[in-house]
Amino acid sequence: MFQFEGKVAVITGAASGFGRAFADKGAALGMKLVLADVDAAALAHTVEALRAAGADAIGVPTDVSDASQVEALALAALDAFGKIHLLFNNAGVGSGGFLWESTANDWAWVFGVNVMGVAHGVRVFTPIMLRQNEPAHIVNTASVAGLLSPPAMGIYNASKHAVVSLTETLYHDLQNAGGQVGCSLLCPAFVPTGIADAERARPETLRNDAAPTRSQLAAGKQLQRAVQSGKLNAQDVAELTFEAIGAGRFYILTHPAILPTVHLRHEDIEQQRNPTDPLSLKPEVKAESR
Ligand SMILES: NC(=O)c1ccc[n+]([C@@H]2O[C@H](COP(=O)([O-])OP(=O)(O)OC[C@H]3O[C@@H](n4cnc5c(N)ncnc54)[C@H](O)[C@@H]3O)[C@@H](O)[C@H]2O)c1
Repeated sequence: MFQFEGKVAVITGAASGFGRAFADKGAALGMKLVLADVDAAALAHTVEALRAAGADAIGVPTDVSDASQVEALALAALDAFGKIHLLFNNAGVGSGGFLWESTANDWAWVFGVNVMGVAHGVRVFTPIMLRQNEPAHIVNTASVAGLLSPPAMGIYNASKHAVVSLTETLYHDLQNAGGQVGCSLLCPAFVPTGIADAERARPETLRNDAAPTRSQLAAGKQLQRAVQSGKLNAQDVAELTFEAIGAGRFYILTHPAILPTVHLRHEDIEQQRNPTDPLSLKPEVKAESR
C-alpha cells in the first residue's frame, strides 16, 4: 500500500482541472507539493490557495513540451524537498476537426504537450526515483481517447494512444528493472474541466493563421457539450486515482461503462472488421462516455 503522508508529489498541469484536484487530494493526505503549469498566473493563484489552506507547496512555471524546463522542474523539486515520490504527468491539450484539415502547428502543439511532455517526465524523473530506492509512483494521464478512436479528434486520439503505449511499456520496463517504482495509466472519459478551452495555453508560435474550418468549429462545440455534461467531476477522478495508486493498480478507468466500446474495438481488430464509430453506439454508452 503506497503511503502518501509526508511524501513529495510533482504535478504537471496543476493549475486547473484534474491537476488541481490531484493537488487538493495530495494536500489533504499531507503530501508536499511541487506544482507545475505553463499558465504562471493560474499556477500562482493555485499555490496561494493551497498554502492558505495549510499545504506545503511550491509552484514552478513549466512548459512540459520543453525538455530543459522539465529538467529544471525536477531540480526545483529536489531543491525544495530533497526527494520525489509521486509524479503526475498530467498536462494536456487538444484540438479537433477533420484530420486532413489539422495544421502542422496543431500536430506540433498537441504532440509536444501530450506526448513529449509525458516522455520528458518519464525520462527525467524515473532515474531519480529509481536512485532513491524507496517506493515511488508515476501516473500518466491518457484518456479513453487512448483506447478508442472517435471521429474528429484525430491528433488528440493519436497522442493519447501514444501515452497508453508508452505507459504500458514503462510498466514492463520498471518490472524488469526491479526497484520500487510503479506506474499507472489514467484513462478518463469526458469530465468538466478547462480542457475544452485548451487553446488558452497554446503558445503564440504555434497558433494558426487561418480561421477555423467548419469541422473544427463543430468539433469544438461538440467537445464543450460533451465535457460539460460529464457525470463525474475532477475531484471524483482524483479520488479514484489516489485509490488506484494506493492499491498499486495500473489501469485507472474512471468510466467503466465505456468498456463495452473498448471491447468492440478489440473485436473489430481481432475479427478484421472495419472500425465501428464509437460515437454511433447505444445512447447509454455515449452518455456515460461524456
Ligand atoms: N477533462 C476531460 O474530459 C479529460 C478526459 C480525458 C483525459 N483528459 C486529460 O486530462 C489531463 C488534464 O486536463 P484537464 O481536463 O484537467 O484540463 P484543464 O485544461 O482543466 O487543465 C490542463 C492544465 O494543463 C496546463 N497546460 C497546458 N499546456 C501545458 C504545457 N505545455 N505545460 C504545462 N502545463 C500545460 C493548462 O494550463 C491547464 O492548467 C489532460 O492530459 C487531458 O488530456 C481530460
